[in-house]
Amino acid sequence: MFALDSSLQCFEYRYNRWIPLRRRSGFYRTDSRFFAQAHIEYRIRFYVRAAFATFGRLNLDFQLLIMPTPHTSAEWMSLEDTYGAHNYHPLPVVLTRGKGVYVWDVSGKRYYDFLSAYSAVNQGHCHPRIIGALRKQSERLTLTSRAFYNDKLGPYEAFATRYFGFDKLLPMNTGAEAVETAMKLARKWGYEKKGIPDEQAKIIVCHNNFHGRTISIISASNEPSARGHFGPYTPGLVSIPYDDIPALEGELADPAVCAFLVEPIQGEAGVRVPHSDYISKAHRACKRKNVLFIADEVQTGMGRTGKLLAVDHAGVKPDILILGKAISGGVLPVSAVLADDSIMEVITPGTHGSTFGGNPLACVVSTAALKVVVEEKLAENAQFLGDIFREEMQKLVAESYRVRLVRGKGLLNAIVIDDSEGSSTAWDLCLQLRDGGLLAKPTHGNTIRFAPPLVIDEAQLNECIAIIRHTILNDKPAS
Ligand SMILES: Cc1ncc(COP(=O)(O)O)c(C=O)c1O
Repeated sequence: MFALDSSLQCFEYRYNRWIPLRRRSGFYRTDSRFFAQAHIEYRIRFYVRAAFATFGRLNLDFQLLIMPTPHTSAEWMSLEDTYGAHNYHPLPVVLTRGKGVYVWDVSGKRYYDFLSAYSAVNQGHCHPRIIGALRKQSERLTLTSRAFYNDKLGPYEAFATRYFGFDKLLPMNTGAEAVETAMKLARKWGYEKKGIPDEQAKIIVCHNNFHGRTISIISASNEPSARGHFGPYTPGLVSIPYDDIPALEGELADPAVCAFLVEPIQGEAGVRVPHSDYISKAHRACKRKNVLFIADEVQTGMGRTGKLLAVDHAGVKPDILILGKAISGGVLPVSAVLADDSIMEVITPGTHGSTFGGNPLACVVSTAALKVVVEEKLAENAQFLGDIFREEMQKLVAESYRVRLVRGKGLLNAIVIDDSEGSSTAWDLCLQLRDGGLLAKPTHGNTIRFAPPLVIDEAQLNECIAIIRHTILNDKPAS
């Protein structure tokens, strides 16, 4: 933005056009030699800047015009590396299309997707019913904000609350936002319902948790790469070992504790499945102390572990349920926090919100995605195929020096590679799996997570098992 003065009018360049400015009285009437000199310098500066600005704009158009279209995977990867922040370390494969359990790279090679966007694509890539709902609604109304009602949010909330068995739903977008929402909700409940003195509320979390990337959430993490140099951290978070009831009971003794936030299976930590009675015992312990039990089912929900929710294995209804990822089938960022009235009523107008949360597009997409999970019996499929998968992986543990153990539930599984966390063995195996037509990613160095879309069928799973077996059995130890 810069200004052009003339004896007649002053203009400002804004919004891609010249806008006349109000004349500042007195300034142009000053008639000294100093002004004449300053005036000339000013005009020169203007012409130089105008030339640069024009050139800059032309230059940008020119650059966009001549920007080479990438043709090879290497070129696409190089664009991301050059112009994008390096906050991920992707497996070198450039995807361009997805359908069901398959994805295709830019050269046309087909792969089985064994990550499902970290369990967001449970319903399979581009599920026709979900995409159909998206298409139809996208031409009608996409965003109103919550300043007004819209005709999709209410029906969605009514549907989803009955679906999961809660009184109320609070819509958000990403998983991390939903976790933040649950933490705020728990603190407010702690002050207003439990009577915790102001500013003292504590939330218990578990070692090796993963709940997202915001400041408060990483304050609850003990992962150095997630926390390092992002302090100062949010207070009021107490971390205990996962799957440790005595440790939980110890912290629950503190009357300032308002909630226990837990993943029923720790996905990012390498698919860590706790003892079968952990969740029910933890839930009971929380009840005894009037502490909210918050289940983060962002990764484990929507049929992934063989039940609609992972807490269903323990027959537990959490006080607060956090969902994300697959509640939209991976089509849009949609997340939700569910709770009964006695908890959710502490949220009042102005205390929490999100411009996009509850947008009509998200509501119809999520409704379709939730229906697909039930109607296509995805949880049942995950339960059935998960048993087969672990059985086959267990054979690999016996047959191969490479695989130390297998763990998981439903179709959320992992194999632990017999090497150190700092080794590249798991990464190298993932490269070989990719070459064999299956995409998976190491988590925590020496662990490979296997989480295909839940629409996978038995024949496809068997083909994948064959790829994994072949890759692992043919991997030779470094000499
Ligand atoms: C258990 C859990 N909670 C929260 C999140 C954060 O979700 P998002 O990446 O959508 O913010 C994740 C993401 O992997 C997760 O696994």
